[in-house]
Amino acid sequence: MALNIDAIRKQFPALALSDEGKPRIYLDNPGGTQVPRQVLERMEHYLIHNNANHGGQFRTSVESDKVLAEAHQAMADLLNARSADEIVFGANMTTLTFAFSRSIGRLFNRGDTILLTRMDHDGNVGPWLHLAEDLGLKVRWLNFDLETYEYDFAEVADLLKDGAVKLAAINYASNCLGTINDVKAITEMAHQSDTLVFVDAVQFVPHGPLDVQRIGCDFLVCSPYKFFGPHQGVLWGDTEILEKLEAYKVRPADKMAPGKFETGTQLHEGQAGTLGVLEYLEWIGETMGTEFESEFPDFRGRRLHLHTAMLAIQEYEQSLSKRLISGLQNLSGVEIRGISNPNDYSRRVPTVSFTVSNQNPEEIALKLAAENIYVWHGHNYALEAYRHMGLENTGGVVRIGPVHYNTIAEIDQTLEVLESCW
Ligand SMILES: Cc1ncc(COP(=O)(O)O)c(C=O)c1O
Repeated sequence: MALNIDAIRKQFPALALSDEGKPRIYLDNPGGTQVPRQVLERMEHYLIHNNANHGGQFRTSVESDKVLAEAHQAMADLLNARSADEIVFGANMTTLTFAFSRSIGRLFNRGDTILLTRMDHDGNVGPWLHLAEDLGLKVRWLNFDLETYEYDFAEVADLLKDGAVKLAAINYASNCLGTINDVKAITEMAHQSDTLVFVDAVQFVPHGPLDVQRIGCDFLVCSPYKFFGPHQGVLWGDTEILEKLEAYKVRPADKMAPGKFETGTQLHEGQAGTLGVLEYLEWIGETMGTEFESEFPDFRGRRLHLHTAMLAIQEYEQSLSKRLISGLQNLSGVEIRGISNPNDYSRRVPTVSFTVSNQNPEEIALKLAAENIYVWHGHNYALEAYRHMGLENTGGVVRIGPVHYNTIAEIDQTLEVLESCW
């Protein structure tokens, strides 16, 4: 059973909007996605009926706490966490990573070594570089291969082999190349020498089923606004390590996780909205994902539906990747900066970055914007990746980022406009 794209698009009020007769085509999704009505309804309901601070004995506070608990549990289901207490909400991935890097840094000594990648968004690089500066840590870099756009596992092994690396901050899917990395294999290699593994899954969660227990990492971060929810960040951490970590907190705050890490008053309506998007994804799983149920024999209820939804989405998105990449390859002067062999589309998300010889990426983005087609250009915060590709002073790339609510017709329309751009 394929995804019913018409039924899906009806859930998203923003997808029906036009400007001066031109429908909006949202291909800016790696920067942030549109939200289904379940998110809007949950947020509105929270703010009208449940709006209160945490821990009171009166109706709104009790109801508010129920919503927050349910949002934590739903995120645990999405990520296959053992417990809702392993889920920490925060402002966004970057803010959570800055906060956790401080707490994790308390486990390190001056002169210790950490491993960063040249593929990740700066959200999983900058916080660790600051920590390295403050604590006098040594930094090792994992490059990616400029031909395959993937990591070379011999290089991973080489970087880890002396057992000196205390933490590896790695990325699941790349926000510029689209590559999906084998984070389970990297985690296994890292754990052989007790290296902590911190996974940036911001760009994977919108595109596929995720299982923290299968990966075996120690921390994993994502951002609900990249998977059709409100502007929020979520960190998952293994119970044992969350208990061990000292949080930067005010004295009266909870002593236990997740409360000790959720500093100050949280964006409660954001958590309600995150619950809304997970209800939306659950609906996809229940109504369009049943054929994938046998892939998840140990899951039941919402956990099962969320995972089947993401597999159905992944399957559909491969058809978008195929159309987009083959269409771009037919245009003169285009170089795809990522995996482009159709046999390897399962190793990438549909985020496609490209350059065009003698063309400025910003001008291409402007021409598309004139047709109400939204794409990103430049470095998209993946600074190290752009430097590694030699694109730092060239205006970067054009990045086209479809998600499951985009259609083949939208891809074709975009390609048609691109044809007349240069
Ligand atoms: C791979 C990746 N990591 C981290 C981030 C930062 O996320 P946030 O905006 O939630 O801080 C982004 C945002 O684009 C991203 O794409």
